[in-house]
This record gives sequence, structure tokens and C-alpha cells, in this order.
Amino acid sequence: MKGKFIVVEGIDGAGKSTHLQFLCARIEALKKVRVLLTREPGGTPLAEEIRSLLLKTPMDGLTETLLAFAARQDHVRSVILPALDEGVWVVCDRFTDSTRAYQGGGAGVPSDLIENLAKTVPEGASPDRVYVFDAPSSLAAERRAARAEPSDRFEAEDEAYFERVRHVYLDRARDLPAIYRVLDSSLALEKIQKELEKDISTL
Ligand code: TYD
Repeated sequence: MKGKFIVVEGIDGAGKSTHLQFLCARIEALKKVRVLLTREPGGTPLAEEIRSLLLKTPMDGLTETLLAFAARQDHVRSVILPALDEGVWVVCDRFTDSTRAYQGGGAGVPSDLIENLAKTVPEGASPDRVYVFDAPSSLAAERRAARAEPSDRFEAEDEAYFERVRHVYLDRARDLPAIYRVLDSSLALEKIQKELEKDISTL
């Protein structure tokens, strides 16, 4: 793969969306590469249809898992891998760790089942860097509450659910320090941006 694959993760309300545009712009400027910003679930017409099902229709955790991987398969095969192959850097708003965290940690789907799917589904695309935006679930809950309406059914989950989600991210970051960077969302925006910028130059 000629391009690099960068993933951005975090619980809802941890500030991930605030930093995505900045991240892409700084990668372009510092690395002199083209950047594609995409998201999961989504990124293709099929995967965007799956996204609206997943975000709106009540279903059990295993169904969520299978839909997330179905969307991912289409996205990786038809968008992510071709871009990386052309030397484009891909910045993806959520990826497999969201399934590990939300369906595994949040909804209690067994992790061996998720890992089995993760081994086969996004074949050939594994992140070079994962940025985890981290905030205590109480702070993230306040930020979610400040928004008009929960924009999807995950945002309506309780704090205990988000605490489980958060811990899956933190455990993974601790286990794979070469790939993961945890950014403390309770810090000032400029501080986070400085940290991001410093890290981009190491990629
Ligand atoms: P999010 O990325 O927060 O989008 P927005 O900023 O528009 O609200 O929303 C996507 C939601 O989907 C988020 O709550 C987490 C959930 N999700 C899963 O549960 N599993 C997955 O595998 C993925 C990719 C997302």
C-alpha cells in the first residue's frame, strides 16, 4: 500500500468530529499527499444505506455487528483499498474498533466472534495510526446533552454503556502502543491540535 490509513475513534461526545477537518488539512500540508476523508458505517452508497438502518432501527447487538461488517467490506473493497493503492492517505471516521467498542463493549457481543470477523472482512486494510479521542463518559454525556437531539440511537444509550465503550478503546490503545494515540478531549483545543500535529510528522 502506498498511502497510509488513519482511523479516528472515540465515544460520542468525545470531540472526534471537531478534529477531523484539522487532521486532514495538516496531513495534506505536512506530508504533501492527497487525503480522502471517509466514515463508517458508510463511505459507499450501499454502506450509507446500512448506516441509516444501523443508526435508526432497533436491533440486537449481533445484528448490529453483522451490518457493521457488511458495510465495512463494501467500503474497504471499493473505496479504501483503491485509494491507498493510488498513494492517497485515507482518514476514516471510525472503523473496526467502533464495532469492538460499541457492539463488543457496549452491547456485549462476544469478542471472539468480532475478532473472527475482523480477521477476514477488511482484508488488506489495517490502520497505520488510530487516534482515540478520550473523555470521561460524564463529560461526553454533557456534550451530547448540549446538542439538540440525539442524532442516532447509540447516542441515546446510558452512561454505563459509554463507559464500557470507552474502556475497550483504552484497553486496545494500551495493548498496541505503536499504532494508537490517545488524545485527552478535556484539554484545550489548541493543545490537542499541537499534539496531533507533532504526531503527524512521525507518520
Ligand atoms: P458518529 O460517528 O458518532 O457520527 P455522527 O458524528 O454523525 O453522530 O455515529 C456513528 C454511530 O455508529 C456511533 O454512535 C457509533 C456507531 N457505530 C457502531 O455502533 N458500530 C460500528 O462498527 C461503527 C462504525 C459505528
